[in-house]
Amino acid sequence: MSRYNIDSPEKYSQLYIESVNEPEVFWSELASNNFLWEAKWSKVLDWDFRKAKVSWFKDAKLNITINCLDRHVKNHPTKTAIIFEPNNPDEEYKSYSYSELLTEVCKMANVLKSMGVKKGDRVCIYLPMIPELAFSVLACARIGAIHSVVFAGFSSSALAARIVDCKSGIIITSDGSYRGKKILNLKKIVDEALEICKSDQKVLLVKRTNESVNINSKRDFLLEDLIVDVDNFCDAEIMDAEDPLFILYTSGSTGKPKGMVHTCAGYMVYTSFTFKNVFQYDDGDIYWCTADIGWITGHSYILYGPLSNGATTIMFEGVPSFPDYSRFWQVVEKFGVNQFYTAPTAIRALAKQGTSFLKNCDLSSLKVLGTVGEPINLEAWQWYNKYVGRSNCPIVDTWWQTETGGILISSIPKVIPDKPTFATKPFIGIQAILLDENGNELKEFNTVGKLCIQYPWPSIARTIWGDHKRYIDTYFSAFENKYFTGDGAFKDKDGNYRITGRVDDVIIVSGHNLGTAPIEDAINEHELVAESAIVGFPHQIKGNALYGFITLKQEHENIDDIKKEINLLISKKIGPIAKLDKIQMTNGLPKTRSGKIMRRILRNIASKEFDNLGDISTLLNPDVVKEIIDNSL
Ligand code: PRX
Repeated sequence: MSRYNIDSPEKYSQLYIESVNEPEVFWSELASNNFLWEAKWSKVLDWDFRKAKVSWFKDAKLNITINCLDRHVKNHPTKTAIIFEPNNPDEEYKSYSYSELLTEVCKMANVLKSMGVKKGDRVCIYLPMIPELAFSVLACARIGAIHSVVFAGFSSSALAARIVDCKSGIIITSDGSYRGKKILNLKKIVDEALEICKSDQKVLLVKRTNESVNINSKRDFLLEDLIVDVDNFCDAEIMDAEDPLFILYTSGSTGKPKGMVHTCAGYMVYTSFTFKNVFQYDDGDIYWCTADIGWITGHSYILYGPLSNGATTIMFEGVPSFPDYSRFWQVVEKFGVNQFYTAPTAIRALAKQGTSFLKNCDLSSLKVLGTVGEPINLEAWQWYNKYVGRSNCPIVDTWWQTETGGILISSIPKVIPDKPTFATKPFIGIQAILLDENGNELKEFNTVGKLCIQYPWPSIARTIWGDHKRYIDTYFSAFENKYFTGDGAFKDKDGNYRITGRVDDVIIVSGHNLGTAPIEDAINEHELVAESAIVGFPHQIKGNALYGFITLKQEHENIDDIKKEINLLISKKIGPIAKLDKIQMTNGLPKTRSGKIMRRILRNIASKEFDNLGDISTLLNPDVVKEIIDNSL
């Protein structure tokens, strides 16, 4: 990628200008020079944001796994591709060279084929962070099946909704998963999900915890039985540039999750280019992203970005607190990690434990630190910088989304200086703009506006699976001819962006993107609940936590029991990540005269900003506000 190595501020400016002045020339040359294609494109870009239509590299043919695996096997077969570090440090780690990884992926691909999976079929993957998760994802890509990875912390109903939405005929899962001290029986959750789906699915079962699980012989297939009969090689299916590579669900402002669709070529080009440059990955470096492959960060920056660059990437099964809070730093020392990428919520949780857990760990291999998923507060940034980076590692605060496929705004080590709490500058090709309520460009510094992107980049999602209208409505209708991110942001006088947070009904809790609507839907299923509203409030570790205001149909004595039942219901319908930290029972919710719940008021109450409620006299029921304030938690 030498011409495309961003190694100085001048190079960044030069490439940025090229990418904006002549985007098609820029991306065409970059794609041509850095990837293997079976056929080149007839047109670089076709787009119309008004219809949410974007297509890159029309008619090009490729397979992303040839770019992630075969070409590196040819050049350096024994180089380590993936290091798997288990949950328990007493268990031996595993590493897979590029050549071994290709074989594992091919075997898994052949197993899927033997189960009848074909190009275009959707394969739901519900696995812990074990090597088979990587093999499964890449095996789907190998044969042109569309993977839909569901984070293995989601409940059976959430899993079922995702299986039904994209009509996956097969679910790959494991008996159980290890998370710190806990063992979670994933197979049981899948069994429950398939009860809900009421359609014919096959299950491919991977053994991890070796606990006993229910086996339905008509439906469930053991990987260990099937894998002995398959070949070690599988030809890569040749895909069209715009064929879907995967679906990944993200929360929205209605109860139904949005299946974001990413396609083969554009996604590959952009994640590969950003990985190389944002992390300044050098040949031989050991890179570690602590995310789960169940989220977009894992897709783009544990698997596809690193592997397309021939990098060595670590997959970590565990949690930062097990066996103790030195776990991350032990792993950094063990493998000599050079780039370390994690979430602000993890940094805050670790910082709370003090510095003793870092003391005996050698972190001198670290060159670049990164954060993702939510705004990082100054205190956490400073702790990360001082104790993990020893004031010697640039911190890339990478802003992006499931929808964007790759990093859109970030500093670049030694090129774009970091600035605490600022994501800083748009990456090459990213034409960011801040708009006011009326859609006019906000030119003043330090004024918050709505963050939009006004030109396509290669890895923008192409649609919402099965619902293109919702894709248009959610992202392309607020402002004409712009992609609206749903985030607020401002710029300093040097053009550095600071993301201030969501401006819609999505709340980021511990870096997880949660829509309020599905949580409210879950609560409202409780037979005693009349109405509910969920808002976020600042939380020391999680960034935001959830506060529920709930009105019951009638008075009840055992409020504590009801609160417990409500959280259980949320766990069951969505997953434990969506549980409420605070629940306040109210006699009513503040509403406009047209009946809309005034969340702004509830947000201010939850954040204890009682002086900042604005004019409440126009409410349908202004009296209820005082009562809510008096009883607030
Ligand atoms: O609000 C922004 C926040 O996370 C949202 C996207 O969430 P998700 O699709 O789950 O993807 C997370 C991983 C890419 C964004 O709309 N967000 C993400 N990164 C940052 C951030 N907020 C502030 N700073 C960031 N670096």
